[in-house]
Amino acid sequence: MPRTLNVLPPEKGVCLITLQRPEALNALSTELLGELAQALETAEREPEVRVVVLTGSRKAFAAGADLKEMAERDLIGTLEDPRVRHWQRIAGFSKPLIAAVNGFALGGGCELAMHADILIAGRDARFGQPEIDLGIIPGAGGTQRLLRAVGKSQAMQMVLTGEAIDARQAQRVGLVSEITQPELTVERALEIGRLIAAKAPLAVRLAKEVLLKAQDVDLASGLNIERQAFVMLAGTADRNEGLRAFQEKRPPRFVGR
Ligand code: HXC
Repeated sequence: MPRTLNVLPPEKGVCLITLQRPEALNALSTELLGELAQALETAEREPEVRVVVLTGSRKAFAAGADLKEMAERDLIGTLEDPRVRHWQRIAGFSKPLIAAVNGFALGGGCELAMHADILIAGRDARFGQPEIDLGIIPGAGGTQRLLRAVGKSQAMQMVLTGEAIDARQAQRVGLVSEITQPELTVERALEIGRLIAAKAPLAVRLAKEVLLKAQDVDLASGLNIERQAFVMLAGTADRNEGLRAFQEKRPPRFVGR
């Protein structure tokens, strides 16, 4: 049983994981990151989990790396930090991951939210990379994912000043796709999760994979990857079912093959 997370069994294909270290505003301790990576790997293996929603508390999605732990690590400790491996495992999750963010998403908390494929934020959410105030820089992908998400000027401003942005600004710059009342953030994320969970699983999986590639490769290579995935799906039972259901004017029954 994880101590720093609550993992609910999937409902309608959607599993809800809640970070639970209220005494430290969900600061990302090694234990928490390890438990989260483990929970996602379990979700990866379970066919009944189609989508994961990740959330924190109303006050904090996560207030960053655990600064008390960090203070005990010197250069070698940082070089050999086991959390690096946990971050890689989290980044490798192949099913759709939706972050439902309320309150603080700072430092590693903002970086964790950016590991999600879709971000939904409560009106009171605050996103920031305050590492510069500690004499360090983001270390879990913040410099790379933030720039790709919001563009150079906004990313530079956030990382160099350490100042957080509110939910409205986060939506304006494309970091989050929707803003809700804080009490509805998780429900809205679950609702989006259920919509995705009802789609053809192979198409969802390839769509995520191909979209993420768009951040890394040039246009010609990206179009090539898209084409290959598109052709691959033409051989699936679900594609035939989708087209047949359209002609027969009925909802499709996808089976994941
Ligand atoms: C450990 C933390 C913490 C953190 C908060 N707490 N953030 N503990 N690591 N990152 C603890 C506090 O020490 C306190 O416990 C309790 O949570 C409540 O926090 P308060 O500060 O009393 O709450 P509040 O006044 O409401 O202020 C909230 C806050 C502030 C603005 C979010 O806590 C804050 O600035 N936290 C640090 C944010 C930060 O710098 N994050 C980036 C970390 S660097 P006690 O027991 O003391 O009362 C990073 C790098 C990532 O993330 C690199 C990845 C590899």
